[in-house]
Amino acid sequence: MAAIVQLKPITGVPAASSASANPRDPAFFQNPYAFYDARHANKPTFFWEEYGHWCCAGFKEVSALLRDKRFGREILHVATREELGMPEPKPHTAAFDLTEKYSLLNLEPPGHTRLRMLVNRAFVSRHVEQLRPRIVKLANEMIDGFEGEDSVDIIKAFAAPIPAIVIAEMIGLPAESAPQLLAWSNRMVAMYMYGVSHETELDANQASADFMDYLRAIIAERRKQPREDLLTHMLTSDQGGERLTDEEVMSTAILLLNAGHEATVHTTGNGVKSILESGIDPVTLFSSEEQTAATVEECLRFDAPLHMFTRYALSDLEFDGIQMRKGDVIGLLLGAANRDPARFANANAFDPFRTDGANVSFGAGIHFCIGAPLARIELQVAFSELFRRLPKLRIAEAPRYNDVYHFHGLEKLMVSWK
Ligand code: HEM
Repeated sequence: MAAIVQLKPITGVPAASSASANPRDPAFFQNPYAFYDARHANKPTFFWEEYGHWCCAGFKEVSALLRDKRFGREILHVATREELGMPEPKPHTAAFDLTEKYSLLNLEPPGHTRLRMLVNRAFVSRHVEQLRPRIVKLANEMIDGFEGEDSVDIIKAFAAPIPAIVIAEMIGLPAESAPQLLAWSNRMVAMYMYGVSHETELDANQASADFMDYLRAIIAERRKQPREDLLTHMLTSDQGGERLTDEEVMSTAILLLNAGHEATVHTTGNGVKSILESGIDPVTLFSSEEQTAATVEECLRFDAPLHMFTRYALSDLEFDGIQMRKGDVIGLLLGAANRDPARFANANAFDPFRTDGANVSFGAGIHFCIGAPLARIELQVAFSELFRRLPKLRIAEAPRYNDVYHFHGLEKLMVSWK
């Protein structure tokens, strides 16, 4: 993800097709929706000046591009560094780059297909559905922990621990390690921020090295003593006589841990905020399994946790009237596509009773989120248990989003319930 940057400057873009917004400007990242509204009203496929590449804000275009095989997450399988003007990897981010090298998110077929098949089985709906009682128990334990207080930061006390523990346990790491895993993961995802500093790179690299050392030791244990967990499964599964290397297993475990909690934490926080700000009686939102599922979908649509993913053009091509060269980058604005008035009635209204809520928060195509069934269960349980136990929940302090534009989540969400 961090590695995808526009290499050769794009020039000659007509002023009418370009737009400007500084991703580090608080006025923008606290509320990117006004900028999206303007793109929908003008040209939804536009050149974002600060990023220096094209972006799509339209639902139809984003959905089509996610499925378009002329674009990919990887580029070095079809072009050389010299051809693209891509600099050599930086030695001081070597450990971070290694964790990304075999990440499903950065691979294209056939490497992607092989790895994805190996992990996919663990994440299909009927398998993750078995985790529901454990998630209910965890949610209630977290609420027991703060019920006696007057107010609490729901991100720290509730939203963050649940998905971290669930994914750690699935992989086969002890629940007690969750805070450490969260800390490593937070330091690593800082690399995806716009305009990363040298210090951040060094810190993310150190976190990656420590994370890998920790996993290496556990992998060695599992080789000696296999268990019924995803780590053992990845180490022992055979694909036509071929096994995953330790590095592939580490990359995948780290991706699952990072992807497996970050977006879920943000959706929980954003969702609680959307529900409370809407003024809708929460009882009506969780009155049945179907309505609970619809409420979760609307939270995902209305305030998506991941706002931009990127793709490389794998050849010279034309998309939505723009000419792209091989290696050019295009940003897919998931948070904007979900608010496209051409696709959703009253796109800017939070309406958990809508019937047109199907959105692109989990992506589409070959990289469609492998954890979507798990994330949906986690969110259904988290929201319904929280509002069941604390029906008078309300926002106690004006919430603020983090300064990481495309990981759109709250820094803190202070709530009270008395
Ligand atoms: C609300 C929560 C979540 C959201 C909104 C979300 C969103 C996404 C999106 C948009 C992608 C596709 C990125 C692209 O096309 O470039 C993706 C991929 C992925 N997600 Fe999630 N995710 C969530 C939770 C999870 C969870 C719980 C897990 C694992 C336990 C997970 C694991 C993954 C993995 C492994 C990929 C890469 C799949 C591939 O490249 O084949 N995600 N996610």
